[in-house]
Amino acid sequence: MSLQDFLSTLDSLEGEASSAFDSAADPELLEAARVRFLGQKSGAIRDVQKQMGSIDKSDRKAAGMRLNEFKSNIQAAFDACKARLGGSDDSAVDPTFDPTLPGVRPNIGHIHPITQTISHLMEIMGRMGFEAAEGPEVEDPWHNFVALNIPEDHPARDPLDNFYLATARSAGKSSATRSNVEGSQLLRSQTSTVQIRVMENEQPPIRVISLGRVYRPDDPDATHFPMFHQMEGLLVDRSVTMANLKTVLRVFANNYLGDDVDIRFRPSFFPFTEPSVEVDFFWNDAWVEFGGAGMVDPAVFEAVGYDTEQFSGFAFGLGVERLCMRRHGISDIRDLYSGDLRFLRQF
Ligand code: DAH
Repeated sequence: MSLQDFLSTLDSLEGEASSAFDSAADPELLEAARVRFLGQKSGAIRDVQKQMGSIDKSDRKAAGMRLNEFKSNIQAAFDACKARLGGSDDSAVDPTFDPTLPGVRPNIGHIHPITQTISHLMEIMGRMGFEAAEGPEVEDPWHNFVALNIPEDHPARDPLDNFYLATARSAGKSSATRSNVEGSQLLRSQTSTVQIRVMENEQPPIRVISLGRVYRPDDPDATHFPMFHQMEGLLVDRSVTMANLKTVLRVFANNYLGDDVDIRFRPSFFPFTEPSVEVDFFWNDAWVEFGGAGMVDPAVFEAVGYDTEQFSGFAFGLGVERLCMRRHGISDIRDLYSGDLRFLRQF
């Protein structure tokens, strides 16, 4: 083929292609034109490219340059047409896609059941006028024991029942003797510490709760964990009685555990209350202890400088995990701290 013929073939094809793409009014016509000119199997570009071989060697360079220009012009005409029809080009849309179906929920985290429980307990007690108070988890013996009327030789101070920080620092287990830990800070074993901190800083009337972590070296089982949470309550005013304590705990229990919950107060002993009771709830055909309570012992008021003639008060401490477990029917405290998402996602 002569160069002349080749060039005029390109000219007329290019004219046809540009009018085909320019006039294509819908995606089907665009597709037809694409197949006709740009198609890989039998498109016009492909055919004309084949004819390059029959052109005289000396003319090939000129033919090649024009061929490249021809190809990019046709491609540009196609691109322009596609862009023009783009908005209505539904051939690009997956026909199985149904925009009316609900979307896939992204997997977002949520609040841990114990944190949810804490918010709920604060809300219920808040309605009875109790404000939240906080104290440190690393405590000194004054707040954890001494001011709470727990004497030096009391079993609650035993190094084997507490996480003393001195014990952790000094070498070996044999260091866990009373004289070794004397005066040492510890991870608080009860939230009753916060009662002292509040009373040291404020005068009656006092109405606070404190929700937080406490630590005891217990072996984990279905009902024990070395770290757990307590809800401490303290109310100090003039003429507070045991009847006030029982009413507050009953109202709390009815709000959190339901109107049909059975609650029982059992005489007991705590160094910081007199008289003292243990608080039981009926759960799975049995009475289960949820914490302790009582009238604040005058020795505690003396430790914080309150006038025992003028003021009386009650205090209580309940296990948060146990409350959460009874409400949600959880049978093993370890589930709460396993990090198992199959469990946690239920809340
Ligand atoms: N601190 C006690 C404990 O951890 C619970 C307790 C009992 C708290 C009686 C109180 C109370 O405030 O009055 O076992």
